[in-house]
Parts: sequence; C-alpha cells; structure tokens
Amino acid sequence: MALTWKQKDLIEIGALSCDEMNTIFSVARQFKASAQHGSLPKSLLAGRTLVNLFLEPSTRTRLAFEVAAKKLQAEVITISGASSSLTKGESLRDTAQNMAALQADMIIMRHSASGAPNYLSQVVDIPIINGGDGAHAHPTQALLDAFTLIEQLGNIQGKKITILGDILYSRVARSNMECLLKLGAEVTIAGPSTLVPQGFAALGVRVCYDLRAALQDADAVMLLRIQHERQAATHFPSIGEYTSMFGLNQERAQWLKPDAIIMHPGPINRGVEIDSELADSNRSVILQQVTNGIMVRMACIHLCYAYHNGLPLQPEL
Ligand code: CP
Repeated sequence: MALTWKQKDLIEIGALSCDEMNTIFSVARQFKASAQHGSLPKSLLAGRTLVNLFLEPSTRTRLAFEVAAKKLQAEVITISGASSSLTKGESLRDTAQNMAALQADMIIMRHSASGAPNYLSQVVDIPIINGGDGAHAHPTQALLDAFTLIEQLGNIQGKKITILGDILYSRVARSNMECLLKLGAEVTIAGPSTLVPQGFAALGVRVCYDLRAALQDADAVMLLRIQHERQAATHFPSIGEYTSMFGLNQERAQWLKPDAIIMHPGPINRGVEIDSELADSNRSVILQQVTNGIMVRMACIHLCYAYHNGLPLQPEL
C-alpha cells in the first residue's frame, strides 16, 4: 500500500486522515514483523536525539516511547517536571526552545494542561508528539488500541466497541471515540450518567446507561480508570458503589459474546473497574496493547521525523 503522511507533529486524532492512520498501522506492522525476525530497521533516527518531556506521571507511554526510540537507534533523554528548570519558573516555551537549541530532534510531551503539546508545536520547529494532555487527547493510545483491535478482530469497520467508565475526564476515551468512528466502528459509551453526558451523542456514538445492553453485542469492551486526579467533584457516592454498578466482574462478563475481547489502557485498578481474574484471563488483551504500543510509537516517530526532514516514508528494514 502507498504510504500517506503529511504531519510534522502528532497532537490529536482529528488531524489525521484515514489514509494516514492506515499508514501508521502499515508501518507498525512492518516494524513488528521485522522485530519478530530479530532484526532492527536501518533507521532514519540513528544518532538523533529524542526528548521525552513527561510533566505528569506515566509508566506505559513514557517507557514505550523510550523503547520505541531506542529500537530506532535514537538517543533518548527523559525529563520529568521535578528534574527540570520548570520548577524554577522557566516557561514551557523557553524549556522547549532550549531543548531545540540543544539539538533535540523531536519532543514527546505529556502535560496536565490540555493544549500544551499544540502550543509547543507552534514555538519550536521540530516534531512534537502528544503523549497525553489533560483530558484532551492521547492519540498514540487510540492508535495502539485500534492496531490491537485490527489484529484481534481482523478489521474495525462495522465492529461494535463499548467504552465503559469515566468518559468525561478521559483523554483516552476522546481519542478512541474519534479514531474508532473514523475507522467505521459503531461506538457505545457507557457508565454513570454523571461521567457519560448525553452531549457525547453528537459525536456519533451511542450513549447507554444500561450496562447489560452496552455489553451484550460488543465485539470489544474498553474499560477506563476513574480519573480522580482530574475530578473536581465526586460523580458517584463511593468507589464501592461505582464497582457495584459498573465494574466488570465474572458474572457481567457472561453478558458479553463468547469471543468479545477486554481492553484497558492502564493503569488498571484491580477490583474497581475490572475484576482481577478477568484482567488476567485469556479474554483480556491488555498486555498485547502495551506491547503494540512500542511498534505503533516507532511508526509515529519514524513518520513525523521523515516528513519533517523530507526523507522517505517507507522504512528500510
Ligand atoms: N495508558 C497510559 O497512558 O498509561 P500511562 O499513564 O502509564 O502512560
């Protein structure tokens, strides 16, 4: 397939065409096949410097970008908020411009403020990839979720995907809704009405407060963590009551079709949104999502760098 990509940065799914998303999946598939044969690509990134600027906690995204960049033979520097001069009052703009002056070739950024990576992309002339900003977007999570769904279900067009939990505060839910709808899925969002406002229906998703109805015809269910850190108010009486109403347990998993898969972006709260045994069961693809996150991020890094520098999009494997 011909590769289509015209993005210096990857900030949100809305900026990508379907062809560009399919280009990411195609390049990620090539990287995955090459890794399975034990070979590394002849990378455009060899000797280049990628800065992982993570100003909010992360395990999977930060490490997956780090592993991805190292597999592309880039040098990786990881900076947290606490270890940077941001703590001395330096602005984000000055921080990023100093990174570019120190010859960083790309910045991956996680920030608690929605819009921070977009702002950065306008003040430096190197690619910026959004590793999650506030409740706004987490594009690489949605892309790795879609990549995993294609691997598991064959394709996404016409598939029924239910996203269950804290939709209101979830950047993962927002990016996934956009991504899955673009790829032709039928998306249902479910959870307590306080966390799943009817307004989301305008995006083209089905809003459902009946858990059984939300689960019974799904090909995949994506569970979301309750984002306490972003909630100014309590949206349900207690965690125990959330679990009793919306937690996925063994009994409720019987409502799913026998071959439906269970997904979660992590971190999981065992015994809250998902029963621990279900998280470890053979219906769960949670760890496959994490592994696929490496190849999908290799593809995103490769494509943004290649486009920005006028280099071939097709990786040399
Ligand atoms: N899925 C996800 O973003 O996990 P981390 O917060 O650990 O990066």
